[in-house]
Amino acid sequence: MKVAVLVGSLRRESFSRKTAKTLAALAPASLTLEIVEIGDLPIYNQDGDDDGKPPAAWTTFRQRIRGYEGVIFVTPEYNRSVPAVLKNAIDVGSRPYGQSVWAGKPGAVVSVSPGVIGGFGANHHLRQSLVFLDVPAMQQPEAYIGGATNLFDAEGRLSSERTREFLSRFMEAFAVWLGTNTGVIK
Ligand SMILES: Cc1cc2nc3c(=O)[nH]c(=O)nc-3n(C[C@H](O)[C@H](O)[C@H](O)COP(=O)(O)O)c2cc1C
Repeated sequence: MKVAVLVGSLRRESFSRKTAKTLAALAPASLTLEIVEIGDLPIYNQDGDDDGKPPAAWTTFRQRIRGYEGVIFVTPEYNRSVPAVLKNAIDVGSRPYGQSVWAGKPGAVVSVSPGVIGGFGANHHLRQSLVFLDVPAMQQPEAYIGGATNLFDAEGRLSSERTREFLSRFMEAFAVWLGTNTGVIK
């Protein structure tokens, strides 16, 4: 099954992106994870949809997301919430009203931060939107990746065995979550 990964940071050396790449590498063979870029999506303005002239990047993004069975959000915390770039992508995918690409698509949230709280605020703020968007978001294990500054080597590879074990377990649980929620696993 194909899983879209949305990364809530555009930073070159983003810990969130490094975490997303690690998740892709650790995913069970039944899953293919692909990062869907969101940095070039124009800021959502409902006029684009109301006028029947949405920017091409919105349309391409919506079509692309429809092609995935599931979605994993890997995000930093900005001011105890998610960065605007991620919220924008979520908003773009959610419209026009009644045509949301998120509805019913099983998901999961991973928050990443150099701080000790591991982006808890962003993680749960995002879950609030996912409730409304009808994304069944995996409950356990929760993923608050703290102390991110100490987790990766100079090449951006995960150097913490403990975190690797945790992220492997996370991906195994997500494969079951996805399979169950899509009816692949009875
Ligand atoms: C605008 C802004 C707000 C931030 N707010 C928080 C915050 O609320 N909590 C937190 O743990 N870190 C916060 N940070 C620090 C980020 O966690 C840190 O920059 C992190 O490396 C960003 O994720 P990335 O490495 O994936 O780019 C903030 C950073 C920026 C630029």
